[in-house]
This record gives sequence, C-alpha cells and structure tokens, in this order.
Amino acid sequence: MITFHNVCKTYEKQHVIKDFSLTIHEGELFVLIGPSGSGKTTTMKMINRLIEPTKGHITIKDNDIATLNPVALRRNIGYVIQQIGLLPHLTIQENVSLVPRLKQMAVEEYHARVQELMRMVALEPSTFAERYPHELSGGQQQRIGVIRALAADPDIILMDEPFSALDPISREQLQDELIRIQQELKKTIVFVTHDMNEALKLADRVGIMQNGHLVQVDAPQQLLAHPANDFVKTFVGNQHNAMLASLLPITQIMQPAHTMYAHQTIKEAQTFMLKHQLDMLIILDRQEIYMGSVTIWAIYQQHYDPETLLQDVIQSTVAVLSHSATIEDLTALLHVQTQPITPVLNRDQRVMGVINSTEAAAYIATL
Ligand SMILES: Nc1ncnc2c1ncn2[C@@H]1O[C@H](COP(=O)(O)OP(=O)(O)O)[C@@H](O)[C@H]1O
Ligand SMILES: [Mg+2]
Repeated sequence: MITFHNVCKTYEKQHVIKDFSLTIHEGELFVLIGPSGSGKTTTMKMINRLIEPTKGHITIKDNDIATLNPVALRRNIGYVIQQIGLLPHLTIQENVSLVPRLKQMAVEEYHARVQELMRMVALEPSTFAERYPHELSGGQQQRIGVIRALAADPDIILMDEPFSALDPISREQLQDELIRIQQELKKTIVFVTHDMNEALKLADRVGIMQNGHLVQVDAPQQLLAHPANDFVKTFVGNQHNAMLASLLPITQIMQPAHTMYAHQTIKEAQTFMLKHQLDMLIILDRQEIYMGSVTIWAIYQQHYDPETLLQDVIQSTVAVLSHSATIEDLTALLHVQTQPITPVLNRDQRVMGVINSTEAAAYIATL
C-alpha cells in the first residue's frame, strides 16, 4: 500500500533518514517507534509530502507520490498530531466536517458521517456537536482530532504521537477506541510513538527506528521473542517481564508431541519411549482426541504384563494448556505441577504439541 524505496533525507550535512525501505500493508496498523530524534516524524511527514525525500521515492498503491498534487494527496490522508489544533472559532461539528466540505462532499452525506463518528468515540452529538473546542477536555479534543482525520473517509491515517499529551486513563481509552475503529473501518494507519507499551498494544507490526535507520520490523510478539540486536533488546527490555509474559503465546516454545493410542500396549510404548528417550507419552483415542498421558514409571510398574493396554495405565489428571495460553499462564502452572511435559490442546481437544517443563523454565528465566 505505502512503500518507501531507499528513501534518504539530508539536512545540510546531517543524514536524518538513511536508506529507508519499508512496505506498509493495506488495512494494517503500523507503529513506528524509536527514541526522540530517530526520524519518526520526518518519515511520517514524507508520506503526505510535508517533507520531500532527498533521495529515493515513496509510492502509494504503486503511484509515485512525487507525481501527485500534494494538496489533493493530503486531503486523502488523515493526519493527527499531538496538539491537534482544532480551530477555536468553529464548533466541533464544523471542525470535523472541514475536510469533507473542502472535498465538496454533500452536506447530508458528511453530516450523517460526523454524527456516526462522534458516537464511535462516545461523544453524543446532541451534547457536543455545537460546542467549541475550549469547552472540551484534552481527551475529548483529541478524540475530535481522531475523528476529524476520519471524516473525509481517507484510506490512510497518519498519527504522530497523538495520545502522548494525555493523562494515562484518557490515553488507554483512546487506544481502545482506536483499536475498535480500526477493526471496524479497516484503514491503513501509520502511528508514531516513543512508548513501547502503546506500540505493543496497538500494532499489527512495529518498525523500530534508530538514528534514521529502520532496525527491525516485526509483529509485537516476534519483536519480544526475537529482538534483532542489543538496541532493540534494551528498548523492548524496558518493559516489565510480566508484560512480555502476558503477550507471548506458549506455542512459541511448544515442541512436537510424541503420541500413541490408548489401544496400544505398554510393550509398544516401552520400545517407543526407549527409542526416543521419553519420560512421558501423550495418549489419544481412535479419533485422535487427547485422553491423558503415560509415564515411563507407570509402565515399569506393569512390567509383569507387557500386553496391558495403555488405556489401563493412563493418567488423565495431568495439567494441560490451551493453545491460546500465554507464558504467564505457563509460569503459574509450573509453580504448581511437576510433570515433565505439558500437552497443549486446541479447542477440539486435539494435541498441538507439548511444553517441556525444564526447557520452559530455562526460557522464562531469560525473559
Ligand atoms: N528542518 C530540519 N532541519 C534540520 N534538522 C532537522 C529538521 N527537522 C528534523 N531535523 C532533525 O532530524 C532528526 C529527526 O527528527 P524527527 O524526525 O523529528 O525525529 P523524531 O520524530 O523521531 O523525534 C533530528 O535529529 C532533528 O533534529
Ligand atoms: Mg517526532
């Protein structure tokens, strides 16, 4: 959707953006994050041509934006900044409908839309439409900034630290609203922040910038699990471990399960376990549904009859984890149980894999 092709931006002798290449997909909420001065705002302003690249080019839907009329381009790209700058002498309704009016949309069309958008951010039009900006709180004004960017129904929305001046509660609320709006309207959103919590909460993908370079682009979970270098690690590592743990799915450290059927014999199981050096086996019924597990110790106790079926020695009380469980859930489980492996089941009670307790504990220790 939006592609940077080897873009550079230089002021005098300072290289502010260095060989920047990136594709932001349609309908994606892409978060650019990095320390102050790393080039986030410059990168964003090149998308709506408030800043022109020194080298390279940017395409939107394969059109080089350098060939487009910048004013027309900007009308089709919503833009939200920290100080949203609502016009003080216009009502909320008039502020929000400014761009639709500039685009010569029909009054009835944008009127209905403005009302709909106001309700979307929990500002009842009958109460707020005729108010002036100074009659709204900071959080409410910022909501208006967000819906003003949406009013003309642009495909792309650029948001440069839009919530960073807000108190933590308003900020959380606006983040939640943005997530809802995005799910509903499927805009392509480029969101700049220096707050990693915000990035991890909002992003489909995060791009981390350092000194004008893009150092890593990944989904939040990948970023946490596989930071590309020490800079990213430190940047991400400032988060609390609990935050990491609550986000990381256990499937990340899952291994393939060794399974047998309940109607197989302990003799078969013993051979299989010796061969694969297993302490514990996962047992399935004929429909491949999870039944329980069998340990090597349980089998040794039955050595007098090698033809005993596994269903007679099965342990059905072992703890299991759902495929949607997180490392946090696993940590809680490891505190209370001692089994060597824990099966991971999907909704249909089928075994997706296992978590090895020793390896999981070692992994958690590195978080
Ligand atoms: N108009 C300009 N002239 C010279 N240097 C600039 C100008 N605009 C930005 N810079 C420099 O470019 C770098 C990146 O700035 P910016 O994109 O605003 O960073 P960020 O948004 O990540 O904080 C900074 O070092 C800044 O000082
Ligand atoms: Mg900035």
